[in-house]
Amino acid sequence: MAASQIETELSTEEFNTISVRDLALRDPRFRLALEKAGIDCCCGGGCRLKDAAKEAAVPPDELRRILRDAAEQPAVPGGNDDWKCDSLERFLEYFMNFHHKPLYEKFSRIELYFIPIMEKHGREHGVELNAFQHEFQKIATEMVPHLQTEEAKLFPAFLAPEPPEDLADLCRRREEEHLSIRRKLRRIAAMTCHYRIPPYACAAVEALFEELRELDKMLKEHIFLQNNVLFPRA
Ligand SMILES: [Fe+2]
Repeated sequence: MAASQIETELSTEEFNTISVRDLALRDPRFRLALEKAGIDCCCGGGCRLKDAAKEAAVPPDELRRILRDAAEQPAVPGGNDDWKCDSLERFLEYFMNFHHKPLYEKFSRIELYFIPIMEKHGREHGVELNAFQHEFQKIATEMVPHLQTEEAKLFPAFLAPEPPEDLADLCRRREEEHLSIRRKLRRIAAMTCHYRIPPYACAAVEALFEELRELDKMLKEHIFLQNNVLFPRA
């Protein structure tokens, strides 16, 4: 179903009752529009759209206009439904291959960028570069064990013939960790002016900022899919 058809079917009653999660999962265009409007789809997906809009100070009429505009946009490149697998096992396999593995690689690669960049720009821009690196390392230090716990405990628990009693608790703790990661992502985004390339940037600094921007996107996707697709199944 095209996004424009979906929007016209969003009756007043549905607008008042639908959750952010359900709307964001309908089409990536809606998700992008909600995020742009300041409505958090990753960690606030369970909220009703109406309440989330109030929290973000977006008037209902304005939000309806935003959604109507979003429905008229072309499909989001890469915003396909490839995570929609026919079984939980395949979904988790998809997650391992297209989320966990690339994230480990990304963390290792970004760390390496800082060494030559500090050598070249450390004297003039060492304070800000150190701050970026420190914030990045906090994310990596928190996220790597998070991924490892998901692989060792969470995913096997979802696949167990008899789900363990603490499955919901395992999800709740991962959700808390997601919140903490989101806070750190907001900080690094603010520090880098949303990954805007600084005027002094050489090719390596440009590449670092691009990597950080991509990391931000990957982590938000990880959090969105787990909070809104995986955890509700616990
Ligand atoms: Fe996670």
